[in-house]
Amino acid sequence: MSHAEENAGTRRDFLYYATAGAGAVATGAAVWPLVNQMNPSADVQALSSIFVDVSAVDVGTQLTVKWRGKPVFIRRRSEEEIASARETALGDLPDQNAENANKPNADAADENRTLDEAGEWLVMMGVCTHLGCVPLGDGAGEFGGWFCPCHGSHYDAAGRIRKGPAPRNLPVPVAAFEDETTIKLG
Ligand code: FES
Repeated sequence: MSHAEENAGTRRDFLYYATAGAGAVATGAAVWPLVNQMNPSADVQALSSIFVDVSAVDVGTQLTVKWRGKPVFIRRRSEEEIASARETALGDLPDQNAENANKPNADAADENRTLDEAGEWLVMMGVCTHLGCVPLGDGAGEFGGWFCPCHGSHYDAAGRIRKGPAPRNLPVPVAAFEDETTIKLG
C-alpha cells in the first residue's frame, strides 16, 4: 500500500467512526479547543450546547435527543396540531406561563411556545413536570399531544398541561435555528 492510500484509508476510517459516534447529534464538545481560547463563559456554553440535524424529521413526527442527561422532544407539527394548539383559549390552560426560556414571562399562547412563527417546530424537555417521567408522544392523551402514564398527566399539542397532577407546561429550553435544518440547544 502506498503512503497516499494509507492516508486515504485512515481518513475514511476516521470519518466513519465520527459519523457512527455522532448520529443525529453533533456535540458542541467537538469545538472545545477553539472556544477555549475565547473566554470561560463561552467555553462552558459550548460544552453544554448541542446541534441537532432535523432535516430528516417529517411533518407530524418527532425526534427525541438526549441533552444534559435529559430527553428533549423536537416535534415538527402537522397543520392539525398547529390549528388545535392555536385555537385553545388561554383560560383553558392550568399553567398560564409559556415556560419558554427563550421568552421569559410570556403567556402560554401557542405562539409563545414554538421555535418558529408558523408554529411548525416545538422543542421542549421530555420530562413530566409532576415527578419527572418521560411522557408518551405522537398525539397521546386526551388533548392530542403527550401523555404521562405515571400518574395520568395530559399535555396538548403545544406541550401544555391540560389535565392531571402535573403543575406546569413542559419547559421549552434555550433553542434556536442555527440554519434551516439545524437546531441548537443551549
Ligand atoms: S410523573 Fe408524570 S404524571 Fe406523575
